[in-house]
Amino acid sequence: HPSNLQMEENSSLRAANCRAKGGAPGFKVAILGAAGGIGQPLAMLMKINPLVSVLHLYDVVNSPGVTADISHMDTGAVVRGFLGQPQLESALTGMDLVIIPAGVPRKPGMTRDDLFNINAGIVKTLCEGIAKCCPNAIVNLISNPVNSTVPIAAEVFKKSGTYDPKRLLGVTMLDVVRANTFVAEVLGLDPREVDVPVVGGHSGVTILPLLSQVKPPCTLTKEESEYLTNRIQNGGTEVVEAKAGAGSATLSMAYAAVKFADACLRGLRGDAGVVECAFVASQVTELPFFASKVRLGRTGAEEIYQLGPLNEYERVGLEKAKKELAGSIQKVGNFPQTIF
Ligand code: NAI
Repeated sequence: HPSNLQMEENSSLRAANCRAKGGAPGFKVAILGAAGGIGQPLAMLMKINPLVSVLHLYDVVNSPGVTADISHMDTGAVVRGFLGQPQLESALTGMDLVIIPAGVPRKPGMTRDDLFNINAGIVKTLCEGIAKCCPNAIVNLISNPVNSTVPIAAEVFKKSGTYDPKRLLGVTMLDVVRANTFVAEVLGLDPREVDVPVVGGHSGVTILPLLSQVKPPCTLTKEESEYLTNRIQNGGTEVVEAKAGAGSATLSMAYAAVKFADACLRGLRGDAGVVECAFVASQVTELPFFASKVRLGRTGAEEIYQLGPLNEYERVGLEKAKKELAGSIQKVGNFPQTIF
């Protein structure tokens, strides 16, 4: 008699084959850090996403439990779990999209930069796996400090000869999600109708909402602009303090990550006009990486948009953002002796 485990394996294979025969469209997605505060709700939401046919859940702890739990949801994606470094390669092989929320989060009093030493090493290991097993996958990097982990991932891919800047995207979607929510609140609108471009980076003053470009067009007072900019820049800290030691944003982040991953998958499918903000290799400013609107297509970030007209307040903000961002990117350049 086959063991329970074998039977489960067989039935999951049958489900996958059955779907493959039906030609069901779908992409293979891996989540690295899937048992974490972000990873778990992110895994749940990706299991519901109709564009996903196979969902691989990898973590160094607890991924079997999360996988068993999520695999009982009666949605299309076939879920498989992977535990620990020896299973990283199986987790990554054949993936179209890899989402990375692995790493330690902030506690009160910490900046995102304080996470650099630990998370840089984690991101390096995971990206080496990607370079080896799915070098053509789109990578959505969530692990903080995004301003530095994206340049680190780029270095890893360059070293392995697989670097394609279009496929490496730092996830800044939570800043956009927060901006939409807070601006809608001030304007008395439904947040679903509001679109705020947020450019720069993903930390403090590097988070630069372009309130002069809000859609629908609106006029904000100087006080409103300052209040909103400040709240958007410190949205993460608002959550860290409210959680009082229990971590940083996880649920709104999982929502934002899925919103962004879904846009990447629609781009991969060939949908036209998929545009979102992301932190990418860029020539929009003199810095090598910068967040701005990008058009997502079959090969990743196919077009990177200029910032458009800025008002005086935003021009001042841009200078501050660039100065701080340059430091975070520079930090990576100082790191290779120990990490690479
Ligand atoms: P968490 O601690 O709840 O979960 C992290 C998970 O990563 C854990 O399950 C842990 O076992 C796993 N992990 C650690 N080392 C690993 C490795 N080598 N390989 C695979 N998995 C590994 O943390 P949380 O709250 O989920 O946050 C994760 C990261 O996301 C943090 O760095 C946090 O700062 C960042 N973050 C980014 C945001 C953004 O907007 N880009 C917003 C919020 C958080």
